Amino acid sequence: MQETLNRLDDLRDQHLADLLELLRIASVSADPAFQGEVRRAADWVAAKFRGMGLSVTVVPTERHPLVFASSPPVSGKPTVLVYGHYDVQPPDPLDEWITPPFEPAIRDGNVVARGATDDKGQMLTHVLSAEAWLKSAGQLPVQLKFVIEGEEEVGSESLYHALDSTDRAVDGMTVAEWMKCDVAVISDSSQFAPGVPAVTYGLRGIAYYELRLTGPKQDLHSGVFGGAVTNPCLALAQMLAALKDERGRVMVPGFYDDVLPLSDAERQEFASLDFSEEKFRRQLDVEATTGEEGFTTLERRWARPSCDVHGLWGGYQKEGAKTVLPAKAGAKFSFRLVPNQDPQKISASLEKFLRSILPPGIRMELIDMHGAPGCVVPIDSPYMSAARAAIETGFGKRAVFIREGGSIPIVGAFKQRLGMDTLLLGWGLDDDNTHSPNEKFHLADFYRGIRASAALWSELAKVTPGK
Ligand code: BES
Ligand code: ZN
Repeated sequence: MQETLNRLDDLRDQHLADLLELLRIASVSADPAFQGEVRRAADWVAAKFRGMGLSVTVVPTERHPLVFASSPPVSGKPTVLVYGHYDVQPPDPLDEWITPPFEPAIRDGNVVARGATDDKGQMLTHVLSAEAWLKSAGQLPVQLKFVIEGEEEVGSESLYHALDSTDRAVDGMTVAEWMKCDVAVISDSSQFAPGVPAVTYGLRGIAYYELRLTGPKQDLHSGVFGGAVTNPCLALAQMLAALKDERGRVMVPGFYDDVLPLSDAERQEFASLDFSEEKFRRQLDVEATTGEEGFTTLERRWARPSCDVHGLWGGYQKEGAKTVLPAKAGAKFSFRLVPNQDPQKISASLEKFLRSILPPGIRMELIDMHGAPGCVVPIDSPYMSAARAAIETGFGKRAVFIREGGSIPIVGAFKQRLGMDTLLLGWGLDDDNTHSPNEKFHLADFYRGIRASAALWSELAKVTPGK
């Protein structure tokens, strides 16, 4: 391992060049206008794997391609699945970027671009560490199987479908057969704080919707008709507001039925972490934090469900005043879920609830866009100990255990469909501006992540599979 670690220093420029090249590709999965760019990112990843001498298969899907790559089996050693995504969130609002989102810039030791941390930079740490092993030792100490997808940011539907498919699409196996491994590794989350690396043992799930409301057959004069016809914008506002009460609880009937409560021990663990409310407020420039009554900010973010509106529309939005009673209004919103909430159960209950509060004179359509359950993974496995040792090598610090509020939809399926646990090793930081303007990745963390990853393969090789 030492030889590989030594080699990493000489490879820094090459590693940065690779990252910048991938960041220049505008692989926005949500917007069909970017489909060609998404394809180009998949091709870039596949070409990188081919250059490393791995066995590579690109599987086309209804939306964005799946890239599979594997190194040779290593007898008696674990097989490790590395999952990541090459797609990114839309870069909007564009005018808030200091430099354009797909022209990566280096500022203050950070690389700034859409996808820098989420997930191109973090995903590449594992690709580049494997490449360094192959260059320095000629082989990897464990078998690696990479699955790099292009729909993580829109719900991973094609990967779910691929897992159900009976086609022998990869190396003569079905995708589910091919993906069965001893343990999975994902770097698509964060450290607890700068200088405090972490292992994440829980993620929230999600249930995402679009609500469309329709009133009169077309826009009306609000003076002539106002007061006599329900206004869809107001109906929307009332319905969205009804989702939560003043104590921050979600009002959909049965919403909390399956929520796994936080144990006292876990609450104590969270409370013992060095988290400052004041610093948190300053970081976000808000005067107060809010949320479900009776829970701390970390509990609310990591282990309690939540509800957020992502966008809403309807009526006149341009310059000046227009007296219109709009015909339509709509919103995109989602719930973050915790174990053991079931997104399908929530959808059914939500639809019923919204219909029950739909004002007269309004028609509604609820579109269920995607859903995934939350997860927690065991912290006492030998794989987890290997991960913590590797982090210590890469970051020079012991990792703390945390949960996080974001979602990686496919993680639940890794356990439920394939029976394996996932090591969530985040190299990002909370203030990396993921999904926001000026997304960044601290370059020192990029290099430390590559180091930790290189160490991880040899730490995992010490674990006997099946134990
Ligand atoms: N990298 C994030 C998830 C994440 C962020 C985990 C921070 C832990 C900490 C991932 O790429 C992501 O953003 N996922 C989406 C999934 C959704 C669209 C299905 C999310 O959480 O919004
Ligand atoms: Zn993301």
